[in-house]
Amino acid sequence: MGQETWTAVDEYVAGLLAPHDDSLDAAVAASEQAGLPAIQVSPPQGNLLYLLARLRGARTILEFGTLGGYSTIWLARALPADGRLITLEADDRYAQVALENIARAGLGEVVDVRVGPALETLSLLEAEGAGPFDFTFIDADKVNSPSYFSWALERSRPGSVIVADNVVWAGALADPANEDPKIQAQRRLHEAVAAEPRVTATTIQTVGAKGYDGFTIALVDA
Ligand SMILES: C[S@@+](CC[C@H](N)C(=O)[O-])C[C@H]1O[C@@H](n2cnc3c(N)ncnc32)[C@H](O)[C@@H]1O
Repeated sequence: MGQETWTAVDEYVAGLLAPHDDSLDAAVAASEQAGLPAIQVSPPQGNLLYLLARLRGARTILEFGTLGGYSTIWLARALPADGRLITLEADDRYAQVALENIARAGLGEVVDVRVGPALETLSLLEAEGAGPFDFTFIDADKVNSPSYFSWALERSRPGSVIVADNVVWAGALADPANEDPKIQAQRRLHEAVAAEPRVTATTIQTVGAKGYDGFTIALVDA
């Protein structure tokens, strides 16, 4: 059992529960054609984000890491007609591809793509008084996930949900000797979450088309 099985199960699940979808398929195709890396969430993972945002009843969503807008489309579809999603992307070229994909999906009025390194964009959002956010998805440069988590937490309200992707890294999370900064950042993220009385959280390990990794899911209690 391994990658081949995980991918086959992802395809089976997606075939039944996240079936063919013109806008999402077009977003993947356009991103590939534009030379973007194929590092978007898998269809079942996109579906999970959509479900979590709907379970939360999210009206405002913040996303770190847009790429071609694939996860953005899943998340924006969970919003009511007057909902809003702000997504942060460092790479201008990726953001342009995302804007086209999001417009093609009919979500151009709902989604606000902000270009620039997220830590810089956050200062602007702060100045604008953005938030609170009902749902935050952290999926940008992994070394900064702890900073993004703490920023999002301050702009959450009781009941808000914060999800961080790529926190397990094929098990490297549990190896304290691993000196890779992105792995160490995931350990810092876990330590910060553990020390934070305002959240209840867990990390769920995942296997699938994207390999072996995991999500941290935090519910803001207060
Ligand atoms: C894993 S991809 C996001 C995938 C996307 N969430 C999806 O599933 O469709 C990470 C993205 O974060 C962007 N990124 C990297 N560093 C960033 C930063 N400092 N600020 C904002 N975005 C950044 C990358 O350019 C890349 O597009």
